[in-house]
Amino acid sequence: MKSSDIRQSFLDYFEKKEHTIVRSAPVIPAEDPTLLFTNAGMNQFKDVFLDKGSRPYSRAADTQKCIRASGKHNDLEDVGRDTYHHTFFEMLGNWSFGDYYKKEAIAWAWELLTEVWSLPKERLYATVYQDDDESLEIWKTATDIDPDHIMKFGDKDNFWEMGETGPCGPCSEIHIDLTDDLSGRELVNADDHRVIELWNLVFIQYNRKADRSLEPLPKKHVDTGMGFERITAVLQSKGSNYDTDIFAPLFDAITAHTGVAYTATLDGERDMAMRVIADHARTLTFAITDGAVPGNEGRGYVLRRILRRAVRYARKLDCNQPVLYRLVGVIADTMGAVFPELKKQQATVEKIVKSEEESFLVTLGRGIEIFGEIAAALKASKEKSISGEDAFRLYDTYGFPLDLTRLMASEEGLGVDEKGFGACMKEQKERARKDRKQKQQITGDEGQWQWFEQKGPTVFLGYETLETEAQIIGVRIAGSQMQLVLDQTPFYAESGGQTGDRGRIEGENYIFDVIDTRKDGDVIVHVAGTVYDRATGGEVTPESIAFSQAVQVQAQVDKETREATERNHTATHLLHAALRKVLGEHVQQKGSLVGPDRLRFDFSHFEKVSAGELEAVEAEVNERIREAGALVKHADIPYEAALEKGALAFFGDKYADRVRVVEVPGVSMELCGGTHVSNVGQIGLFKIMSESSIASGIRRIEAMSGKAAEEVLWGDYQELQQVRQLLRTGGEESVAARVQELLEERKILDKKLQDMKLSLLLDKAIGELEQADTVNGCRIFVMKYDDSGADTLRSLGQFLREKIGRGVGLLAGEEQGKVTLVGFAGDEAIRECGLNAGELVKKAAAMVQGGGGGKPGFATAGGKNPAGIPESMKVFEETVRTKLQS
Ligand code: ALA
Repeated sequence: MKSSDIRQSFLDYFEKKEHTIVRSAPVIPAEDPTLLFTNAGMNQFKDVFLDKGSRPYSRAADTQKCIRASGKHNDLEDVGRDTYHHTFFEMLGNWSFGDYYKKEAIAWAWELLTEVWSLPKERLYATVYQDDDESLEIWKTATDIDPDHIMKFGDKDNFWEMGETGPCGPCSEIHIDLTDDLSGRELVNADDHRVIELWNLVFIQYNRKADRSLEPLPKKHVDTGMGFERITAVLQSKGSNYDTDIFAPLFDAITAHTGVAYTATLDGERDMAMRVIADHARTLTFAITDGAVPGNEGRGYVLRRILRRAVRYARKLDCNQPVLYRLVGVIADTMGAVFPELKKQQATVEKIVKSEEESFLVTLGRGIEIFGEIAAALKASKEKSISGEDAFRLYDTYGFPLDLTRLMASEEGLGVDEKGFGACMKEQKERARKDRKQKQQITGDEGQWQWFEQKGPTVFLGYETLETEAQIIGVRIAGSQMQLVLDQTPFYAESGGQTGDRGRIEGENYIFDVIDTRKDGDVIVHVAGTVYDRATGGEVTPESIAFSQAVQVQAQVDKETREATERNHTATHLLHAALRKVLGEHVQQKGSLVGPDRLRFDFSHFEKVSAGELEAVEAEVNERIREAGALVKHADIPYEAALEKGALAFFGDKYADRVRVVEVPGVSMELCGGTHVSNVGQIGLFKIMSESSIASGIRRIEAMSGKAAEEVLWGDYQELQQVRQLLRTGGEESVAARVQELLEERKILDKKLQDMKLSLLLDKAIGELEQADTVNGCRIFVMKYDDSGADTLRSLGQFLREKIGRGVGLLAGEEQGKVTLVGFAGDEAIRECGLNAGELVKKAAAMVQGGGGGKPGFATAGGKNPAGIPESMKVFEETVRTKLQS
């Protein structure tokens, strides 16, 4: 069976069992700060398990794109070494949301494996959680598995958890014995490639809380996951996932570019390298397609490390050129039918991967140099071991994993302080953990909710109205804030880049000043910064408010900020369209932030957007604004239909099955849940404020619209008027030309000033020269000059050298913390007294932490320590005296 048929037959099987077949969620979780990457099929249903959201179906199945390269589920180090782990893989899964439970889950899994796919029963083992006798019984009665093949295991193997927190429960796994003589019993759960786990059936019953306690969930659910690559290998009778038709096209492409063929050995260094490259190329392709970008933090950093790992392995194939980006197209060709986003993003992904590869190849070269310097320094000081900090620097900045540093060190007869390295690593992880924790806290996990009505999805009225009557149905105190949930609300909760609404909620006794609005599952949470007593107008603390039942309130969104936000949001859509028009269709949204004051838009593009292009983009947007077209908002249409219409989707986002489309006819059409103006003309004005790079291949534009843009332009105009007045330029005359003129004039004046200063100094110096001490008929002239730099002192020195005859001089100057020393010796002094300005200046310069020198007749030096000037003068003079007296 071809892999594509296997995938389809899984979905068909569960469709027949009344499951809704759903799309894979993106590998970049849209709204879950606890996860860097989607690591299991159940992630997209987390809200359903936690009773925060619902779906129109109670049974679902899909193939989910997963990445396990960070956090609780991390297989990175195993990839390449064995034949059945991946950083990217597809997880086939079926789910029950409070519907069927253990019995059906087990019976169907068994039926699919043994009846539909005809796997030999004698090769299959089932494991159950140590206390789960119910599942044990079901295996015995609902299937015809050999009872000796049912085994119990503990927490480590048979209790599945999504992450540090979140849904979890006991599980039952199905393993397959691939030994020739069916001797695999002892190898179940022993990390051995001869007996591997195929399918995990999880019975979700708890929520793991941050304090490690288990909170029972209101309903019981089924969550299953089967590795698609593994089941394919088994059904295609291959000993390795990498020998299936899933990987063959990738190996062919690698061979075409490197000349190295895959020979399917487990230990061969080159085969291992090819597995790493093929696996990592898939991870990078899928992650970047879904909106991630290699970078220095969080998931960007994980991706950067994966890419670097692959590039290093490519060197084992004697390949020092970018190669990963060439695999992007192969993946899009072979998997594009199942994941159409791959094709759409192919060109962008290729460019991002290629430029990362190129820059890492340079970094790697530089890292090898740095390693050389570290090794040389150690040898010079007769030390034997590379410090933990240096090893970590090589790892962190130059992508050297510890084993590479260890290997290169041993070639130089050096060791590595691995403990020190571990300490640095731990420190960095701690920093990352804190960072993640901070991000989690934004949703305010503290405080218990108090509910007065059945908690259910908040009805959102904010597309049509800014004000409504409502009931407070839930409250909680979070820090100094009070958080409120209403049965219905006009307040837009932060999402899709648009910030949450502000406004007021007024009840009979209290007024809540809402400073932000956020989503929590399908509930909208209003965050009240301050609460006022209605009667007195005074502030009250959240603790002093006692609610015991739902209360009637008037909820009112702040019109001004909401409308300003809407102008920016619609302007963002126009900007997106204008960028695609001016720069090209490769421009894809990579992120956006829409607030009342400004908008920020990140997009894929490979060079700086020139001033001319920015002007064209801005002009295009303003032209559309003047055309004043009405917006069309299509609510609640099927996702596929929206894409067919040509609506742009932001690939990093998770979309529901039914979506909303915002259209400016003839200009722009995007999937968007945000709020917008009703006519483009309401934006009034659009102004780009800045353009910059935020990562390789990703640019950022910040802009303003409406009144905020007008204010900025007005402020600039007023300032320009002031400048005009100061310069006394008339209306017609160009201010820039006048400023240019003034700058030229100033340059000439500066030069004149320098010349005058020099001539004053010269006059004075000639007088002082006359008075200088003489030793053995040789003059010694030593002088300090404040506020004088190298140019002045050099001119002065040259002039004095002509005058001094039999004599030497040192001029020491200080300007803005920098020291200049200029030394000179007349020809007779060199000839007859053996004096050498170069040597003397060098010696003096040591006193000011500097260096320099020159010829016997003339020398200069710079220094960093002005406090050392008197000492340097003394050293100069004493050295000369000693020389003259000897
Ligand atoms: N969520 C379960 C797993 O990932 C099925 O193994």
